Amino acid sequence: MSGSSRILNEALRAKVTSAEHAAGLIASGGTVGMSGFTGSGYPKAVPLALAARMERERAAGNPFRLKVWTGASTGPELDGALARADGIELRLPYNSDPVAREKINAGKMDYLDMHLSQVAPMAWQGFLGPLDTALVEVTGIRADGSLIPSSSVGNNKTWLDRADKVILEVNRWQNPALEGMHDIYYGTALPPNRVPIPLVRPDDRIGEPCFRCDPDRIVAIVETDTPDRNAPFTPPDETALAIAGHLLEFFRHEVASGRLPASLLPLQSGVGNVANAVLTGLIDGPFENLTAYTEVIQDGMLDLLASGRLRMASATAFSLSPDAAERVNADMARFRDRMILRPQEISNHPELIRRLGCLAMNGLIEADIYGNVNSTHVMGSRIQNGIGGSGDFARNAYVSIFMTPSTAKGGKISAIVPFASHVDHIAQDVQILVTEQGLADLRGLSPKHRARLIIERCAHPDYRGALADYFERAQRGSYGLQTPMLPAEALSWHQRFIETGSMLM
Ligand code: COA
Repeated sequence: MSGSSRILNEALRAKVTSAEHAAGLIASGGTVGMSGFTGSGYPKAVPLALAARMERERAAGNPFRLKVWTGASTGPELDGALARADGIELRLPYNSDPVAREKINAGKMDYLDMHLSQVAPMAWQGFLGPLDTALVEVTGIRADGSLIPSSSVGNNKTWLDRADKVILEVNRWQNPALEGMHDIYYGTALPPNRVPIPLVRPDDRIGEPCFRCDPDRIVAIVETDTPDRNAPFTPPDETALAIAGHLLEFFRHEVASGRLPASLLPLQSGVGNVANAVLTGLIDGPFENLTAYTEVIQDGMLDLLASGRLRMASATAFSLSPDAAERVNADMARFRDRMILRPQEISNHPELIRRLGCLAMNGLIEADIYGNVNSTHVMGSRIQNGIGGSGDFARNAYVSIFMTPSTAKGGKISAIVPFASHVDHIAQDVQILVTEQGLADLRGLSPKHRARLIIERCAHPDYRGALADYFERAQRGSYGLQTPMLPAEALSWHQRFIETGSMLM
């Protein structure tokens, strides 16, 4: 792409306007499908102008609120600003912004926490209601009017196809070399017209490099020059390194047993510092020619690519710290052909995850002794982030792995509890559980055997005795003995924390 403007289509260049004017085209009470997946590729100017308008309207006694759909989490200029202005009536499908989290947990904002692969199909099925506006960041507009996607794809294709009107932000900060990296698949359909998705390897390209968009529906274009904002990762601590060590040992063992090929299978790595540490750990491991079929490309994934251990990565978004984003932008030629960004309904598609045989690695809030996993709710009721893509991957993976430090909040909370206070992943979807204490391979084990192994391998020593005691008594006093439980006591650890600030007795 050349020239100072990245809008190479004459007719569309005439639609360039200010963020304030574009924000004025959005009506209160409507639904806006915004781009954005982690801190990447979200619109950065119009949401700020919307937030200012919301503040003004609120002061004048006319509350202005919107339903906001995205790919996943976004940045402070979007979720943070709109939540602060009390401008979000309903948010879906994922949030990790602290201001929005506070509003949700205070009951001031409705939140629909969804499997990320299901958002686009549900929008097409009409289950989510009408979509008034698409507000999407792009890297540029080609002469033929097609749109060069930005640093995340998320649900943008669906928003652009479904919305009554479209507002674009063309962000000059995004690297022009992103052009050609994306693979936008236009072959999805609703039942009974669905056909198999023709992707059989993580590096298959099955779509087009750009979004199509009817120019008549584009009502405004805003030019920006603002960086993505992803949080930096903290360097792996001893706990994260221990978890990574157990997992690498497990992979070595699986390869030696002939259950995994030497290059493993396509990696999926969840969000958070522990997941990042595992990826970093793979750099020094014995595995070569790795691939990734995952949701986000985070720092650890980039390091793996740079090391040559990872041959290629398919995802829907970058989720890079500012340092790593700079490294990619400075060295795009080196990475460009080894990364593919796809719509999230494809990156997280159950059919493809099952076909490829992904190794799913996700974090958790707590797991119970039977292996049910809570990824989302603290003490059963306070949302932390959301289920994200963890369910898409966990249920369909070749091996479904969940990992966590064995305690939280300085040891006052045990991540292994008698009974999960909220369940996102049922025990059948949880095959391997890892903490810094050890790894429990739960495949082929019935509930009581799972419980013994999880307590012995994964629980922190401060809580191991109490868990073993509970399990022992449950086997004597339970109503049934398939999955022994003492209902009156099962959530007592959470109640103790709520009352005393600690699960410790
Ligand atoms: N009780 C209370 N708080 C807990 C907790 C528990 N059992 N376990 C973790 N937390 C808190 C931590 O204290 C921390 O809080 P802070 O930010 O106030 O310090 C926060 O949750 C994050 O935990 P951390 O240990 O830093 O782990 P993480 O960064 O690996 O995140 C999840 C863990 C579960 C929050 C994160 O993995 C997540 O949101 N998962 C769901 C979505 C997902 O899996 N997406 C990937 C799919 S591709």
